[in-house]
Order: sequence, then structure tokens, then C-alpha cells
Amino acid sequence: MTIGLCLVIASACKGQSDLSPSQRGERTFMRNCASCHGADGKGLPIPGYQVPPADLTTAQFQSTHDDAAIRSILMNGKGAMPPLGKLLPPSELDELIMYVRSLGR
Ligand code: HEC
Repeated sequence: MTIGLCLVIASACKGQSDLSPSQRGERTFMRNCASCHGADGKGLPIPGYQVPPADLTTAQFQSTHDDAAIRSILMNGKGAMPPLGKLLPPSELDELIMYVRSLGR
């Protein structure tokens, strides 16, 4: 739908193409992850979850998960988290992993 609009009115998509990879990663995170992990990545208390959404900003999380581990969790899901990575185009998944990585800095 957005792409169709881009073809018709190129200017409608200027804002999108101006985004850097890390900004696109942040946008993907806000759209797909922030509802459980919070806009800051620290994790929100979701009632009914036995294991709460992980705090992705901690040194503990960052040091025990390399990019491949994060990718695998996104593709397979974990606990109450659905395999959301399967819904994303590969380039968006790459940018999202970069963004999750940046949450630890
Ligand atoms: C529906 C709520 C929900 C959404 C949306 C969600 N998560 Fe999660 N996430 C969880 C929960 C709950 C866990 C803890 C699962 C467990 O350990 O049992 C988790 C765990 C994780 C872990 C593993 C943490 C660890 O210590 O092993 C990563 C990485 C992660 N989420 C990243 C993401 C990213 C990136 C997105 C966006 C694509 C996302 N999550 C979207 C609920 C969610």
C-alpha cells in the first residue's frame, strides 16, 4: 500500500527514505516490540506472563546474546513471545537487530 503510494506521489515517501538504518531499526522496534519491551527496551510488566518481557538494555543480556542468538529468538519466538521476526523483511530484521544491540550502549 505504501509502495503504491510512493510510485504515485514520490514526495509522500521522502520522509521514509531519509531515515538512516538505525532510525529504521528504531521504527521497527517501536512498531513491533515496544508494546511488550517498552519504548526504552527495559520491558513492561504484562499481566498473566509467567516470564516478563526481557530487559534488553542490560549488560547481562547484551553480553550473553550475539547477533545470531537475537536473530534466532526473533525467528523462533521465546516463551510468550511470538516469532515476530518471520513477519519482517530480511533488511528490516537486520536493522532491528542492530537497534536491539544499540540498546545496551
Ligand atoms: C507480546 C509481547 C512481546 C512482543 C511484542 C515482543 N516480545 Fe520479546 N519477549 C517477550 C517475553 C515475554 C520474553 C521472555 C520470554 C521468556 O524468556 O520466556 C521476551 C524475550 C525476548 C528476548 C530474549 C531475551 C533473553 O534474555 O533471552 C529478546 C531478544 C526479545 N524478546 C526481543 C524482542 C524484539 C526485538 C521484539 C520485536 C520484534 C520483541 N521481543 C517483541 C514478549 C514480547
